[in-house]
Amino acid sequence: MSATLIDGKAFAARVRDKVADHVTRLREEHGIVPGLAVVLVGEDPASQVYVRSKGKQTVECGMASFEHKLDADTPEADLLALVAKLNADPEVHGILVQLPLPAHLDSDLVINSIDPAKDVDGFHISNVGLLGTGQKSMVPCTPLGCLMMLRDHHGSLSGMNAVVVGRSNIVGKPMAQLLLGESCTVTIAHSRTKDLPEVCRRADILVAAVGRPEMIPGDWVKPGATVIDVGINRIDAPEKGAGKTRLVGDVAFDGCAAVAGAITPVPGGVGPMTIACLLANTVTACCRANG
Ligand code: GUN
Repeated sequence: MSATLIDGKAFAARVRDKVADHVTRLREEHGIVPGLAVVLVGEDPASQVYVRSKGKQTVECGMASFEHKLDADTPEADLLALVAKLNADPEVHGILVQLPLPAHLDSDLVINSIDPAKDVDGFHISNVGLLGTGQKSMVPCTPLGCLMMLRDHHGSLSGMNAVVVGRSNIVGKPMAQLLLGESCTVTIAHSRTKDLPEVCRRADILVAAVGRPEMIPGDWVKPGATVIDVGINRIDAPEKGAGKTRLVGDVAFDGCAAVAGAITPVPGGVGPMTIACLLANTVTACCRANG
């Protein structure tokens, strides 16, 4: 491996320390405790792990955590009523409805029922519009974490060729908007992109957010490029024993690390930054709510 490892775990710990300091000042100087409400519908195992981790880190930073677990068959009206209650609760500054929702629930309707000022995911249509037009908004946590690592590594990103592989509303599209805001030349590639390897090889910054284990091999990476791996995929690992699994990203790590200038690992790269940015967004929402 010749690439520099971008340590998201250590970076996230620094972000959390700053959040905790800010929370202490809000409490001691203004008597305010930022609060984050997380809503989980159903029993998706991966979502349960994320929600537990979000709640734990919220409390560790000195904030109030409100967890709402609803049955998988919860009627849409009940979920909307809960969101309305949280919108009106002055102790709740941030609201996150964990996705994906069960199929009978309309995700867009639910997300757009959240007060945009409390939408710490940055998924509400008005926050999407504000980000797209370069105005002050809530910025989605995963792309924000990626951008923080890129800025920390490079300083200015101006004029760089950035390729984002994946066009999801959660990562791909907002990531592209943020990179455009940094004056990168941005390409969004996806499953229908013609000659994807060639497109990727033009990238000074390659962001992989497709959700397909180890899809991007080393020979798709421009020598010296910075590779940000957003994927978190669990695959079988028979070499560790029968029934064992391991986490891998969307890029084939060893091959890409041999060519890239810098790369984020999985685990320990983008993942920890996502939750750290959620905590930071909650403090931001709290400060804006309190002038
Ligand atoms: N599911 C996977 N990632 C996310 C996220 O960033 N926010 C929410 N609400 N759900 C998710």
